[in-house]
Amino acid sequence: MADPIILKDICKTYATPGESVHAVKDISLTVPEGSFVAIMGRSGCGKSTLLQILGTLLAPTSGSYLLRGQEVSGMKEKQVSALRRREIGFVFQQYRLLSEYSVWENICMPLCLDRAKPDTDYLRDLARSCGILDKLGSYPDQLSGGQQQRVAIVRAMAAKPGILLADEPTGNLDHATGQEVMNALAVCRHRFRQTIVMVTHDPETASYADFLWRMEDGRLLASGSHAEDPSSTALSDSAEIPSSTPEEVI
Ligand SMILES: Nc1ncnc2c1ncn2[C@@H]1O[C@H](COP(=O)(O)OP(=O)(O)OP(=O)(O)O)[C@@H](O)[C@H]1O
Ligand SMILES: [Mg+2]
Repeated sequence: MADPIILKDICKTYATPGESVHAVKDISLTVPEGSFVAIMGRSGCGKSTLLQILGTLLAPTSGSYLLRGQEVSGMKEKQVSALRRREIGFVFQQYRLLSEYSVWENICMPLCLDRAKPDTDYLRDLARSCGILDKLGSYPDQLSGGQQQRVAIVRAMAAKPGILLADEPTGNLDHATGQEVMNALAVCRHRFRQTIVMVTHDPETASYADFLWRMEDGRLLASGSHAEDPSSTALSDSAEIPSSTPEEVI
């Protein structure tokens, strides 16, 4: 099967009045099936822009993006959104739950929008793995931040996407709660084998990933202990949490 994500020479320039911002510069990468990649880098270096491109939420200015072997550039928006809904789940720093709907309704929302029938056993199983099974009847404002983020993870996985993209999933949480969320993500991943790309500022959060890639000024840097070219980084089969810290990996 094709690698789920292959970027070739991707650039993104934001044209703003008076100046152009080159947020992503010439990035080529491959994310192999089942891998968990963390991306770190200074504020403004282009991480969220790259993640939005991976999520097909943002079109690159140039370059090629093969998502599950299909070239996204040039696809009609309707096709892109169908591919996105089928293949990708998102977790953001802000949980983006709908306050007027219950946890269960929030989780089922993407499926309802797609007129798909919720797989109740799967969703309850997932909710149990994330420790929110007893909260399905609650409303978002009755939950802690960590619980809301775990609801967002279950929602992101509701349509059984093969790819999960997370932008600073622990960014709004204290250390212990952030760990709870990452443990929930790790448990889900071990059970359901998603390919995950996560942006984070926190080295401990990044340590849950198999591999760490660094961005600097719109470019993706090779991670030190791996090959020079991030696209050729060989990922381990093991889904075990690496014992080394990201700084050691680098
Ligand atoms: N919609 C936009 N219009 C114009 N410039 C933008 C837009 N979005 C982002 N940028 C610029 O692109 C660059 C990269 O932004 P991006 O949000 O990808 O950074 P980031 O690495 O995610 O930062 P942070 O860690 O603070 O979230 C920044 O210089 C930013 O100002
Ligand atoms: Mg960002």
